[in-house]
This record gives sequence, C-alpha cells and structure tokens, in this order.
Amino acid sequence: MIKSNPVTNGLSKLIKGIVISSLILLSSCNTDDSTPSSSKNKLEPQSTWDSVQTIFSSKCISCHRSGRRHAATSGLILTHNMAYESLVDTSPKNEQALLDGFKRVSTSGNAEERLSKSFLWKKVQIITNSAYGKKMPTRGSLTSSEIAIIKSWIESGALKD
Ligand code: HEC
Repeated sequence: MIKSNPVTNGLSKLIKGIVISSLILLSSCNTDDSTPSSSKNKLEPQSTWDSVQTIFSSKCISCHRSGRRHAATSGLILTHNMAYESLVDTSPKNEQALLDGFKRVSTSGNAEERLSKSFLWKKVQIITNSAYGKKMPTRGSLTSSEIAIIKSWIESGALKD
C-alpha cells in the first residue's frame, strides 16, 4: 500500500493550483475579448440640421428668401423659419424632378435611396439633365465640406436636431 506522502501531496496541490489559476486567467482574457469594442465611437460625426441651416444662411438665402424673385421661381424658401418644412418630404417645383419621383429631401428607404431621391442633393451636384435646372448655388459655390455636410444629413435621415 502506498501511503499518501506529504511531498507528492503538496506537489499535486501546487499543480492543481497552477492549472486552476491559469484557467481563471484564460477565461478572464476571453471575457475581455468578447466585450464590445469601441469601434462604433470612431464613426464620423453626423451632420446636424443646424450645420445644414448655417450653410443655407450663408450661401442660399440671398435668393431663397421670402419676397425674392428667385424664391418665387423655385418655390423654395431657405431661411431658418421655413427651410426645414420647405424641404423635408415635400414635392419639388421642378416638373421633371416631380415626374422622376424626387422629393426635395427624401426620408424613405435606406441612406442610398434617400440620397438618390433627394432633389436638393441633385441640385448641389453636377447636373447632367438640364431639365433639372441649374446647379446650386447659381451664384457663389459650396466647399467640399459643405457638400459633405448636406450629404451626410440626408443619408442619416434628415432629422431636425
Ligand atoms: C442667385 C440665386 C440663387 C442662389 C444663390 C441659390 N439658388 Fe437655388 N434656385 C434659384 C433659382 C432661380 C431656382 C429655380 C430654377 C432652377 O432650378 O434652376 C432655384 C432652385 C433651387 C432648387 C429646386 C427647387 C424646386 O423645388 O424645384 C433647390 C433645391 C435649390 N435651388 C437649392 C439651393 C441651395 C441649397 C442653395 C445654396 C447652396 C441655392 N439654391 C442658392 C436661385 C438661387
């Protein structure tokens, strides 16, 4: 009969201890790995309605304001008291755009569909179809970052906040 010997006993306890603590260590590593990463916070900041209105106020309202001939021709007012209501989910005055199923700013479908059905977006791009009228603004120009702000606002659903 082999009597249990204090030395082997101590040794096996030590081995058990090492095995258990490395298991704990491994599982805690796994827990760390599976926690959601912060990559979502790295997305570009979204444009707000405020940032879009700021562009209109500096680049568009010389024409698109109440009482101006161009505002009557286009049927579009872009001053802060009326711009949102004049744009979002409203029909364009331009007949070809209306026939083609545009909204001034569309909020239906996914980001790509919203953009492709928003006449505002068409009007600040190079316009290949002259039936859509001129590229906006007809006087002055937008910077590429202003264009990007308008684009991302439409893509993210044209919210008013
Ligand atoms: C110098 C005057 C002028 C300026 C500045 C101007 N627009 Fe216009 N806009 C017009 C005129 C005129 C029309 C109608 C004829 C056309 O569509 O080409 C129009 C039409 C539009 C339409 C189409 C409206 C519809 O329902 O058919 C949109 C959208 C528009 N403008 C957006 C803008 C934006 C955004 C800006 C500023 C970045 C801007 N415009 C600056 C004169 C101007």
